[in-house]
Amino acid sequence: MLASTAKPAPEAPALVVRGLSKRFGGVQALDGVDLTLCAGETMALIGENGAGKSTLVKILTGIHAADAGTVSVFGRPFAARSPRDAWAAGITAIHQETVMFDELSVAENVFMGHMPLTPRGLVDWGTMRAATAELLDRLDADVEPDTPLKRLGVAQKHLVEIARALSHDARIVIMDEPTAALSAREIDDLFRIVGQLKAEGRAVVFISHKFDEIFRVADRWTCLRDGRHVGEGAIADVTEADLVRLMVGRSIDQVFPKQDVPIGDVVLEVEGLSNATEFADVSFSLRRGEILGLYGLVGAGRSEAMQALFGLTRPTRGSVRIDGAAVTIRSPADAVAAGMAYVPEDRQVQGAVLPMGIRENLTLAGIAAGPLARFLSRDRELATTRRFGGRLAVKAATWDQRLRELSGGNQQKVVIAKWLAMEPRILILDEPTKGIDVGSKAAVHAFMSELAAQGLAIVLVSSELPEVLGMSDTVLVMHEGRIVKRLPRAQATPEAVVTAATGGGHA
Ligand SMILES: Nc1ncnc2c1ncn2[C@@H]1O[C@H](COP(=O)(O)OP(=O)(O)OP(=O)(O)O)[C@@H](O)[C@H]1O
Ligand SMILES: [Mg+2]
Repeated sequence: MLASTAKPAPEAPALVVRGLSKRFGGVQALDGVDLTLCAGETMALIGENGAGKSTLVKILTGIHAADAGTVSVFGRPFAARSPRDAWAAGITAIHQETVMFDELSVAENVFMGHMPLTPRGLVDWGTMRAATAELLDRLDADVEPDTPLKRLGVAQKHLVEIARALSHDARIVIMDEPTAALSAREIDDLFRIVGQLKAEGRAVVFISHKFDEIFRVADRWTCLRDGRHVGEGAIADVTEADLVRLMVGRSIDQVFPKQDVPIGDVVLEVEGLSNATEFADVSFSLRRGEILGLYGLVGAGRSEAMQALFGLTRPTRGSVRIDGAAVTIRSPADAVAAGMAYVPEDRQVQGAVLPMGIRENLTLAGIAAGPLARFLSRDRELATTRRFGGRLAVKAATWDQRLRELSGGNQQKVVIAKWLAMEPRILILDEPTKGIDVGSKAAVHAFMSELAAQGLAIVLVSSELPEVLGMSDTVLVMHEGRIVKRLPRAQATPEAVVTAATGGGHA
């Protein structure tokens, strides 16, 4: 089944893009972009947030129409007018922003838009289930075809999405930041699949802000900056620093601007926080000016514990004290009133109001914060938006641009800015730099450090070891729902943290 469509004509490259341009209002998202991709090859498409990567993907998959330029697929001219055209030409993509149907089953999601039919024209459920099971099996995914999608976690949903892309048996597979929600083991599986796709003569476009992944998986690279093609070549011929310079236009020598600031009094004390299944007995204290890193593997219960702390879910037991006084947090509004802010990992669902503008999104959390906030004038709002949006390097045409028109990474920055603009005393950041480019990442880290110096207390949930080690005063490690290790900065070596996170080295 796989071999039939995968055989390329050996002469023609899989994909040739010439002079591709696309403008959205005042923004030239793509400006004469060229790209060549051969069968059996993985191309890393790199560039800052807003460089035009996803726009290119959306044109290739028939979601947007190009203003100018040509595309050919295995030597044939190609202009997709709908996702269906793209599938027919053998192109499929795992998009950065997923469109999936929570109420439907895994199998229905995988085959949405191309369900197998019986001779009488009805949906062939048996075939669909079996094919879904086979695809999930290939991904080593522990997911059943009949499970409703809404029962799955973020990482599992992502695997379903990957299965959906593979279900098209495509000759060109595009992955737009596919690893953002995956655990290390799932990333290994994904890379194994990329290897398999290449061996079958398919071509892969891989978009990521993580250089270790790019160097692991890609053969060649193409770099976009402000919608223009600024370079391409073989991965073997470049270093990370070379690529950063091309992406950003200058070198970035940041590497975690953690300032040593005096750590103040305890602001937050969490004692014995537990729920029925995901975390148990989570206890820690947090001081003014302190950055507390919360490390663990995906599924260790970190996000779940933080969501309970913020009142998004109900813990079964546990107590919270703020400035020494017991507080009851039953809802996010209670948490906000107590001076807490939470930047969620899943910005699409919990973080942002996509149809609204940046300014509105940024001042929304503030409005919720207190009665005075109602009197915020437009000027003050704009000043706040400029300050926080600017510090976090949000790239947009205007401050009133709607969030859904921003690139994925810029949406993420707005969500962080929104919660910072509330000027909380306790800030919980869940994977804040996921999907954010190197330059902006440095901006986020610098701002975090500065706010800590001003007395903000921060919990940093991150699966990125260098980020946790680079930014934290204290590292807590969670494993299977429990805090298994507490390490002061000086003792938080990569070995110590990873060993604890994988369940080894219990005290
Ligand atoms: N539907 C739209 N309406 C208006 N502008 C848009 C739209 N989609 C994208 N843009 C703009 O086009 C530019 C390129 O965005 P794109 O999403 O392609 O960036 P990206 O390289 O994928 O970035 P990221 O790394 O953040 O995902 C950005 O300036 C973005 O705001
Ligand atoms: Mg993108």
